[in-house]
Amino acid sequence: MQIIKKIAVFFVLFLLVFSCAISDQSKSYKNGVVVSAHYLASEVGNEILQKGGNAFDAAVAVQFALAVVYPRAGNIAGGGFALIRTSKGEYNSLDFREVAPRAAFEQMYCDREGNVNSDWSQKGHLAVGVPGTVDGMVKLHEKYGSMKWEALLVPAIKLARNGVVLSELEANKLNDYRDQISAQNKNKSNNPYVRERPFREGDTLSNLALARSLLAIKTKGRNGFYEGETANLIVSEMEKYGGIINAKDLQDYQAIWRKPLIGEYREHKIVSMPPPSSGGIALLQLLKGAEMHKMNEWSFGSFEHIHLMVELERRVYADRATWLGDPDFYPIPVDRLVDGEYLENRFATIEMDEKSNSQDVKAGSVAVIESFETTHFSIADQEGNAVAITTTLNGNYGSKVVVEGGGFFLNNEMDDFSCKPGVPNQFGLVGGEANAIKPKKRMLSSMTPTIVEKNGTLFMVLGSPGGSTIITSVFQNIINRIDFEMNPQQSVDAPRVHSQWLPDEVYAESKALSPEVKGKLEEVGHVIKIQSKIGMMANIFVSESGAYIGIADTERHADSRVAGY
Ligand code: DON
Repeated sequence: MQIIKKIAVFFVLFLLVFSCAISDQSKSYKNGVVVSAHYLASEVGNEILQKGGNAFDAAVAVQFALAVVYPRAGNIAGGGFALIRTSKGEYNSLDFREVAPRAAFEQMYCDREGNVNSDWSQKGHLAVGVPGTVDGMVKLHEKYGSMKWEALLVPAIKLARNGVVLSELEANKLNDYRDQISAQNKNKSNNPYVRERPFREGDTLSNLALARSLLAIKTKGRNGFYEGETANLIVSEMEKYGGIINAKDLQDYQAIWRKPLIGEYREHKIVSMPPPSSGGIALLQLLKGAEMHKMNEWSFGSFEHIHLMVELERRVYADRATWLGDPDFYPIPVDRLVDGEYLENRFATIEMDEKSNSQDVKAGSVAVIESFETTHFSIADQEGNAVAITTTLNGNYGSKVVVEGGGFFLNNEMDDFSCKPGVPNQFGLVGGEANAIKPKKRMLSSMTPTIVEKNGTLFMVLGSPGGSTIITSVFQNIINRIDFEMNPQQSVDAPRVHSQWLPDEVYAESKALSPEVKGKLEEVGHVIKIQSKIGMMANIFVSESGAYIGIADTERHADSRVAGY
């Protein structure tokens, strides 16, 4: 048995080392680095750094560039979270999550029989939360930026005006969503995202309406979006097509500075996003469990490694569903949830040779998503400032609604609320009172921008898209580096596994489980589902000499790129 185990572990490590060897692109940069899901956005950020901008200037420019070059997740009408570390070692976090419109109410996505209609929460005008991105970028720049605001919008405006040459990935994605986008934009001509013939790699996609919207933001800052022409365009969309966001909703939107969550993991400082993201709490809980059950004593890919992760995740996602939501609306017991004693008790029931059962609650029938509809980017600069931003429209191209005359997609973030207790959302996540819909409330998120420090110096900047799998992807990248002592490239390339309490299943990338480990997991009762991809990292690691090593997850998303100098 021991020999079979050794062969199985060898098999996983061989696959890992082999795949790293063919994709090894790690290169270090002394001065600054940007890692994002699109090469043009990474280049924009790198240019800002080289012109003397700091990481926060570059982040603003990258956020707006992504709205043009990566419209399925990059956005001006979505939201996100920024985790910040200044060169002085101070931390901060910015919540620019969308909020529910004032006219929203708890049962708004239920039909007469009380059943949730997920089409209403996921598609079209009713699915849209009041966007937070523009106010977020303005606040980030006001507090930490060093360059002129206007200069940070110029690259995105140019890209929108001159057009972006489509990669194969982006052309295919637009084609895949063509019918859904057409369905939500019936009466519109000039929709740049729908053409008569399918998009092809190499086509140029320009968007003059988006260039104008960006120009308004460049000249008027927040008022260029939440007031005036662009705001009117959004409100008229809503009035014409059954949405509920009004002018006051837009005027009232405010991004919020929040105290980041700080924890420890095996002599590393872990800094992550507090509620309304569930990411930071869940990550600290998982790490506590990994420390308690001595994750570092198991080998990567072994039965014990996978079983332990799944058992931890089952408990952590159950807490998420019960306790987490917008802290301004629901008293979240944050201290208790990350308290050592509480977690010791919670994780003490884990048996290493037995699967525990998720509670008998109606399980979600939705499989874990394999496409990347959110986007994460990480930036570090010459002075040692670092920023991790995860931003999203929620689904691919959000609600699929393109604002007529504005040229941009609106989010469908309302689906991140728990529309009805126990009924899963598009990620199979369930929730209850803590995440129920209320006017002006923020919907719970899994986005987990995170920064890790070792001995007082920057160690990792990381994050990922992937809905509910974001948290576990971030977790695995940290333990890959710290417990399994992988190098930066390996820790990103390593195959990933995910579980989330409900559905009571284990999702694994095809290379993650050797036949022997898969067999043993099934023997103790785990239900394994193979997924083509879990998460898409955009990480920065700091070498011992202090150089930045950017790692884009190109194995999982070919357009991702590192740019640095
Ligand atoms: O905030 C959240 O947790 C979700 N709206 C994230 C969506 C997402 O990651 C989709 N992408 N893959």
